[in-house]
Amino acid sequence: MRGNPGWNMSELRPDALGYRAGRSTSARVAVLASGRGTNLQALLDAEASGSLGKTRIVLVLSDRPQAKALERARQRGVEAVFLDPQPFPTREAYDEAVLNALRAREIGLVALAGFMRVLTPVLVRAFPDRILNIHPALLPSFPGLHAQRQALEHGVKVAGCTVHFVDEQVDHGPILLQAAVPVLEGDTEETLSARILAEEHRIYPQAVRLFAEGKIVVEGRKVRIVP
Ligand code: GRF
Repeated sequence: MRGNPGWNMSELRPDALGYRAGRSTSARVAVLASGRGTNLQALLDAEASGSLGKTRIVLVLSDRPQAKALERARQRGVEAVFLDPQPFPTREAYDEAVLNALRAREIGLVALAGFMRVLTPVLVRAFPDRILNIHPALLPSFPGLHAQRQALEHGVKVAGCTVHFVDEQVDHGPILLQAAVPVLEGDTEETLSARILAEEHRIYPQAVRLFAEGKIVVEGRKVRIVP
């Protein structure tokens, strides 16, 4: 059993549930994104509206220079970093550079939001139970790319999205939150994706808030949300 580490390791105390986070005082989040960044925007909006408490998104990092996510960060005065994968000989070397960027900014939680790279153990092991991902399917169904299309082609009646902790397998780690949407007659990949996306924008900020509040306990594959 392992507790949501929260932000400040020095505040960790054992209790009946294992290790729980102390209440956050300086919650520093990095968002990694490769594309349009609507989930990033939902997180920024939640922060601006006060619903993330003292959580601060302090860094947006992208592997693509044209990522709209970088633009969204700059518009909010958040540091936006393009880290070019090209000069790095291996994925691990790239992740080392990402890790250095995160450590330099004392990041406590990493939120992947459409980051189109599979993280290596270099990063995953440095942030155990501290990296969240959002995936547009009800995992463990339809991991990987084009999840909404996979769901449609499979003929499911219910689709949805998942926020989970990142482990060393793709779209696999312990599940924190899920939301379901109906698949409607005549849905296309676009219409279904839009319905799912609205739920993504609702549950991702909710997940970050739960983390920041130290309300998450991870027990093997199971995540409990505690008062
Ligand atoms: C979302 O559908 C998310 O679930 C997936 O990548 C997409 C990112 O969209 N991981 P956006 O860049 O946040 O708009």
